[in-house]
Formats: sequence, structure tokens, C-alpha cells
Amino acid sequence: MPNHSLKQELAAMARSAFNAAGFITDQPIEVLDSQRPELGQFQCNSALALAKAFKTSPRAIADKVCPILAEKPQIAAVSVAGPGFINITLSDDFLAQSSLELAKDPAAICGGEHHSQKVVIDYGGPNVAKPMHVGHLRSSVIGESLKRLLRFMGDDVTADIHMGDWGTQMGMLIYEVKRLHSDLPYFADPLPESFPAESPVTIDDLNKMYPEVSARCKENPEEMAAAHEATAKLQAGHPGYRALWQHFRDISIAALKADFGALDVSFDLWNGESDEHEHIPPMLKKLKEEGHLIESDGALVVPVEENGDNLPPLLLVKSDGAYLYGTTDLSTINERVQKLRAEDIIYVVDKRQALHFTQVFRGAKKTGIAPDTKLEHIAFGTVNGPDGKPFKTRAGGVMKLQDLIALAINEAAKKMAEANIAQELDEAAREETARMVGIAALKFADLSHYRLSDYSFDVDKFTTFEGHTGPYLLYNAVRIKSILRRSPRPAAVEKLLPPQTEAERSLLLTLHHLPEKVREAYAGRVPHILCDQAYDVAKAFSHFYKECHILSESDEKRQDSLLALCLLTLKQLELLAGLLGIKIPERM
Ligand code: ARG
Repeated sequence: MPNHSLKQELAAMARSAFNAAGFITDQPIEVLDSQRPELGQFQCNSALALAKAFKTSPRAIADKVCPILAEKPQIAAVSVAGPGFINITLSDDFLAQSSLELAKDPAAICGGEHHSQKVVIDYGGPNVAKPMHVGHLRSSVIGESLKRLLRFMGDDVTADIHMGDWGTQMGMLIYEVKRLHSDLPYFADPLPESFPAESPVTIDDLNKMYPEVSARCKENPEEMAAAHEATAKLQAGHPGYRALWQHFRDISIAALKADFGALDVSFDLWNGESDEHEHIPPMLKKLKEEGHLIESDGALVVPVEENGDNLPPLLLVKSDGAYLYGTTDLSTINERVQKLRAEDIIYVVDKRQALHFTQVFRGAKKTGIAPDTKLEHIAFGTVNGPDGKPFKTRAGGVMKLQDLIALAINEAAKKMAEANIAQELDEAAREETARMVGIAALKFADLSHYRLSDYSFDVDKFTTFEGHTGPYLLYNAVRIKSILRRSPRPAAVEKLLPPQTEAERSLLLTLHHLPEKVREAYAGRVPHILCDQAYDVAKAFSHFYKECHILSESDEKRQDSLLALCLLTLKQLELLAGLLGIKIPERM
């Protein structure tokens, strides 16, 4: 059966057996992993669900279905337990053969009947000139994984970073540069014809300047007014301010590309809030003509209340004429629907922005901007420090992304030394491996928590080589690579023979969980399910490795089969790591 998972295939087999026994029904017939592996590998509980409709006991149904199932060559044993549970154990031949089928085209089998969609995914969302923090880390890591998962399932996905590059922070910086260097051509009167190609400030200057000027503006209304004025002039098109802003944007993007590159996060579009600027007036004009805009205390709003839920209106133009976060987001939806033909737009953003997205989404529906487009806020929780409060530096400042990465890499290097891992590599290779382990630890830790939960940043736990961690995943994948390198003959999956031990069966059955896990992760936009599967596979492999002595096996055919199983496992671990956005080293 093409594009069916093993469980779906078993369910179809079970249905045909129910039919043949005279129990013809529209009700779902399901086959599940066994709750009691000592009784069978799978179980079917459908006899219990059907008893009422057929006015008989579940046991009587199961007793009739059982012998029919038992005749199928794919099935080695069937039994009825308790009130009518049907326990199923596969033939070893069929288990091996279906494992090869899954490995041949996992994307087709995981995708199943899925219809491809045009999706835009909005994640990362860094703000120009402000250093990224742990919230941006979550958005980037979860967004990147979802992008890969959606593509794997066959969707046509465009990843847009949606930078914050147009707000008051830009005005603050312009104001600050002017205060420090009023002689620069950007502030001259009259303005020159053209401006220097080189930025007058570096990214380090900006990173230093921003917290200082923003703190001063908060304290001092005059400075804040000056920053607002600079923002307004920038947005109105002041050529000097635009030129300076372009420098800020360019140097920030260069720095962001380095940060995201280190995390293996990439985008198709590097658009920002500023790109919406010219699209906002025509959108507002249309909304006004169509009667969607209402004046409220001098501001322009779209009411988004539903069923008396008192949701505040979506504010689009402030009384002073300024646009807001919601204005840009509404306009961005308009562009994504019109130009990119998005059928689904996904926002991977902190759950604390939930109200904002509810307002914007309702606004987009009420105004007819996105009539048929699905809009999803894929929210995530907070990263806390050991004290259970949002993660901060010792001094109480925001923890920067780069510091977090450095923390994880240092700890990974320490753990590797302790466990004597990668110590025989030369120094450069060892450092590179520590970098990969540290980043895998960080990403896996973030992804393995259910995204809506808060979690504590515990770098010690994240970097251990034992347990539900990125390093454990890498360690097992690298161990397989090493076995395959040392094997007397190259491994080939087709040499897989029917399993002979429980450890092999259990590993193959674990590999077969992939399609259901991938579909679950996709349906709920929950990458932690992929982490669970990677962990289960790594653990089942560890057990198999302990039980089956691969390299010392003297029977060539048997050894080839064990090597084939190693290769199948490695392929699935690589697939899952790829979906998580985690890279596996060659050695360690
Ligand atoms: N720049 C925003 C922040 O740092 C996140 C942007 C999220 N995306 C969006 N379309 N609103 O909070």
C-alpha cells in the first residue's frame, strides 16, 4: 500500500478481517502499539467499540476475527485477551520488509495523503540594532524546525525573518548618532547629493549605544521627544536619516546572518517592518472606503470584539498619525496574501503576544484582507533562570543569544573532556565538535519542551551525554558512523534479514513510529514529538548495540544484516536531526 504507515497497513488488514467475519462497519478500526508487549507487538481494541452495534460481546467478535487475521502471512501470532483485545505480532519477514519500505521513501509515507499548501512562516523576528535574546532564540529554533517539517511534508514554505527595523529604536539611534557626531553629512543643512558608502558606526557601536540611549529616553521626556521626532522624519523619508538607517540595517543584517548561520537557521526573505511602510497608506485608504475603519478618540481602529468578549479594537493609526505594530502586521498579511498567495501564515512568537495576534487575525478576517488564509499564532513559553524567573544575566540584564551559545559550547567542551569524548581529535576538530555539541544541546533542549511550556535554562542538564538531550542523540549517531567506518564490508540496507532477537525487533518497531510521530508533530506544530522519537530511536539503538555484537559477528550474512540495521537507524536519526535543525558531526 503506497504512502501508508505500518500501523495504517495493519489497520487495513484488521478491517478486512472484521469484514470477512461479518462485522462490516463505518466506524474506525485502529491498530495501536501494544500496552503489554509480552502479549504482542500491537493491539486492536475495535471489538470493544463494535460490540454494541452488533449486539454481541466484544469477546465473541474478537474470537471470530482472530483466526482470519492469523491466516495473513504478515502476521505471526494473534490472540485475544481480557474482554476482547486482539494482540498482534508480526512475522519477522514482514517486519524487515516493511522497515525497508519505510526507509526507501520516508517523506512519502510520512506525508501520506497530505495536500501541499503555500505557507509563509514568520519567525526569528530580531530587532535591528538590538541584540537578540533568548526569546528570539526560541522563535528561531522552533520556527526553523517547523519550516523543515512542513517542507518535508510537502508544503511550499517561505520563511520570512520579519525584522523589527522601523520603530522608535531606529529614531533613538539616529538621535544618538546626531548627538555624538552632529557634523556627519546625514545631518547637514542643506543635505549633500549623496552619502558615504561606509557606515559611520559599527555593530558594536550600535549594540553599545542602544541600551544607553534607550535608558536615557525612558528617563528623560525631552530626549524621548527627540527620538520620536527622528523616527517621524525617518519614516517621512528624510534622505539623510534614510541613508543612516540603511547603514544600521545593513550592518545589523550582516551580524544577524552570522548569528543565524551559527545556529543553522536560514530565511528566504529578509523583509522587515520597514518594507510595509509604503503599503500602509493604500491599505488604510481601502479599509476606510469599505467602512472598516472607525474613529475612536482621534485614533483609527478596527473593532474586533466577538460575542461580547470585550477584546480591545485593533489600533491602526494613533491620534498623532503614527502607525503601530498591528498596522504593520495587518499590512504584512495583505502582502503575503496578495503577492505570495499564502494559504497559511504561521507566526512563531512568544505567547505574551497572544492578544496582539488575536486582534490582528480578527482584523484581517473582518476586513476581508485574508478571507481564506489560515492564520496561526504558534506561541511559545518563557525561558527561565534557575530561580524560576525569566532568564537574566547575573547583573540582571537580558541574556544575549551570543552569551547563551558561548555558555552551551563551553559546557559541552567540559562534558566532552570529562567523558573522554573527542579527546583524540586535534584541537581545531575538537573545538568544532564542541561547538556542534553545544549548539545541538541548546536546540534540542529548546525543542524538546512542549513549546507552550516555560522551561528552566539548565546548561548542565542540557549538555549531558546521557538522557533526553542533544548530545545523547549526536553520540549515538556518531557511534553508528564509527561502526560503519570500521565494518569489514560497506553496509547496505537491502541486506537486512528478518530480525532474530528482541533487541532488533524492538529497534525496528521503534523506527516504524516515525510516520505517526511526524504527522503528530506536523498537525500540532510541536517539534518536541520529533525529539521524543529521536530519543526513543537512540535508546533502542543503545540497547541493540549492547545485545548484538556487530563487529565481532562471524556469520557474514548475519553481520551484514546487523550493519543494515545500523544504517537504517542512522538514516532515521539523520532525518530527525535534519528536521530539528541539528547537525551531526562525523566523529567524536
Ligand atoms: N520583532 C518582534 C519582537 O522582537 C517580533 C516580531 C514577530 N513577528 C511579527 N510579525 N509580529 O518582539
